[in-house]
Amino acid sequence: MEGRILLKGVIFMCLIACSTAREFKVKDQGAIYNHTLATILVEYAASVYVSDLTELFTWTCPKCNDLTKGFQILELIVDVKRCLQAFVGVAPNLNAIVIAFRGTQGTSIQNWIADLYWKQLDIEYPGMEDAMVHHGFYSAYHNTTLRPGVLSAVESAKEQYGDIPIMVTGHSMGGAMAAFCGLDLTVNYGSRNVSVMTFGQPRIGNAAFASYYSKWVPNTIRVTHEHDIVPHLPPYYYYFPQKTYHHFPREVWLHNLGFGLLSYTVEKVCDDSGEDPSCSRSVTGRSIKDHLTYYGVRLGGEESGFCKIVMDDRLAAYSKVDIDGNVHLSRDFSASVLRMNVESNEEGWSI
Ligand SMILES: *[C@@H]1O[C@H](CO)[C@@H](O)[C@H](O)[C@H]1NC(C)=O
Ligand SMILES: *[C@@H]1O[C@H](CO)[C@@H](O)[C@H](O)[C@H]1NC(C)=O
Ligand SMILES: *[C@@H]1O[C@H](CO)[C@@H](O)[C@H](O)[C@H]1NC(C)=O
Repeated sequence: MEGRILLKGVIFMCLIACSTAREFKVKDQGAIYNHTLATILVEYAASVYVSDLTELFTWTCPKCNDLTKGFQILELIVDVKRCLQAFVGVAPNLNAIVIAFRGTQGTSIQNWIADLYWKQLDIEYPGMEDAMVHHGFYSAYHNTTLRPGVLSAVESAKEQYGDIPIMVTGHSMGGAMAAFCGLDLTVNYGSRNVSVMTFGQPRIGNAAFASYYSKWVPNTIRVTHEHDIVPHLPPYYYYFPQKTYHHFPREVWLHNLGFGLLSYTVEKVCDDSGEDPSCSRSVTGRSIKDHLTYYGVRLGGEESGFCKIVMDDRLAAYSKVDIDGNVHLSRDFSASVLRMNVESNEEGWSI
């Protein structure tokens, strides 16, 4: 008698397990991890943190060389009140449009991370059945001045350069915004050449969302690093598949093996589920330090507790401040190529 009840119990559990496994399998077809590209894009994700807008717009900041040399910003957007920042430009060495979003600045990273434990799936992603996402991340991209700024810059870059690839990147919350931007460009603007690469990105939606996402933007790589705490948040609850946050694929987990002089970094390309238990999820992610370095590049604000911008008169001709105090720096590309040559010849300084 007891044996039969037990057996029934086992069958019941198995049915649940099998059905959830079937229902929530997230597949991706397309993403191929390219280490070289990752080391380039991480530099864009790092430079978008720079608060000196003159250095950033003219691409003369200390972080703005090396693998990103020659980058031309078309549009630099700062939502001053919410402390958000993004840029759109053209990278000659990638022959691509690069869009980068800044992560949290202004509140301390510790507080921001503490809040992530409690984030709810509190808004439906429009047009996708059962897809729920986190309102805060969603609206940071969709309901601020960043979105129209990014979209119009992409539009004018396309007029100038044709249908070149679009690469969207960001670190931390900037990664969450990059994902929403990549999806927006694909779903709502019919861009076909969009790829997304994020670093230390939190979860942003449920399994249904992850599934739609990877169908629309298959060319997505989500890089995680060692014990970085942020990719573990908001938490994933294995026993509540309908209610829980769920990452989209494809994760690439950077971690060290060996000790001391024999230690080396492994770049593990994870499975297509989005929640590969043998990747970042195989460790307890508690580290903020690991969150702030990817590929040896430091990512994060220059000083915590501040949300400031620095701008000088040279930018006046390019800047527009709207009624909410948001700053847009735009370059009319056809004009600026000529101007750049003239100015850099005369004063050794180009914009
Ligand atoms: C990886 O990306 C780099 C930089 O964009 C590119 O030059 C290279 O051809 C890519 N490698 C492969 C195998 O696609
Ligand atoms: C967008 O922002 C406005 C004002 O900040 C707010 O009233 C509105 O509810 C927001 N909409 C969404 C979908 O978040
Ligand atoms: C994406 O861009 C590459 C390089 O410009 C181009 O060869 C390719 O045809 C584009 N793909 C699509 C689907 O537009």
